[in-house]
Amino acid sequence: MNRHVICALDTPHLDEALGTVKKLKDHVGAFKIGHALTLSYGLDVLDRLRDAGAARIFLDLKFHDIPNSVALAVAEAAKRGVWMMTLHIAGGPAMMTAAVEEARMAGDASRPLLVGVSVLTSLDERTLQDQLGVNRTVEEHMCHLSRLAMEFDLDGVVCSAHEIKAIREAVGQRGVIVTPGIRLPDGEVHDQKRVGDAGTAIEHGADYLVIGRALTNSADVEKTLEQFGLVGA
Ligand code: C5P
Repeated sequence: MNRHVICALDTPHLDEALGTVKKLKDHVGAFKIGHALTLSYGLDVLDRLRDAGAARIFLDLKFHDIPNSVALAVAEAAKRGVWMMTLHIAGGPAMMTAAVEEARMAGDASRPLLVGVSVLTSLDERTLQDQLGVNRTVEEHMCHLSRLAMEFDLDGVVCSAHEIKAIREAVGQRGVIVTPGIRLPDGEVHDQKRVGDAGTAIEHGADYLVIGRALTNSADVEKTLEQFGLVGA
């Protein structure tokens, strides 16, 4: 079991997701679900996954709306015992504050972790600057938004392996860093661009690594984790 590994359940099929949870529940610390499963099955999917053995669930719906709407969303997720969830830092201070206040109402024991998304990895520098009108590099903008997230009490941020070091320098030891796009040094990249290996990601300051296909497609999970250098911890 490696508690720092979060397995992404990227399927719209509940049976497949439940099968993956049963296969991986003793090996990883949490499971991440997104729009595909929640739009198909609603938040009841959380109970189904929990029944299959998913003790911690990361709800990756990247909330971005007015403060009141995001607070309502956080309240619903917290009520269902979500362990971690994402929201866009670009929603602004008032939105983050509303989310944090709502999460705190769940009480210390069941308070969900709120993790901020800064610049989506699908956006490149040209789009950011020429079309979205941001006069910073991707990395500068990610650092700026990550500092804002910490200032407004989010529990952490998401970033690719390429930005961990810069973001850790920007926010110090505050908050957790959650990093997707983890690959074996010689592993298949799939559709990802900014990938990195697990050891370097942790060395640079990541706290949680999101791994999808490399685990869900693995015939021998312990061996795969070993290849990543992620057995134990
Ligand atoms: O299969 P793979 O390991 O590429 O899955 C990575 C997971 O992390 C997917 O659920 C993907 O949506 C998510 N993710 C990502 N890159 C980001 C943010 C999230 O790959 N920047």
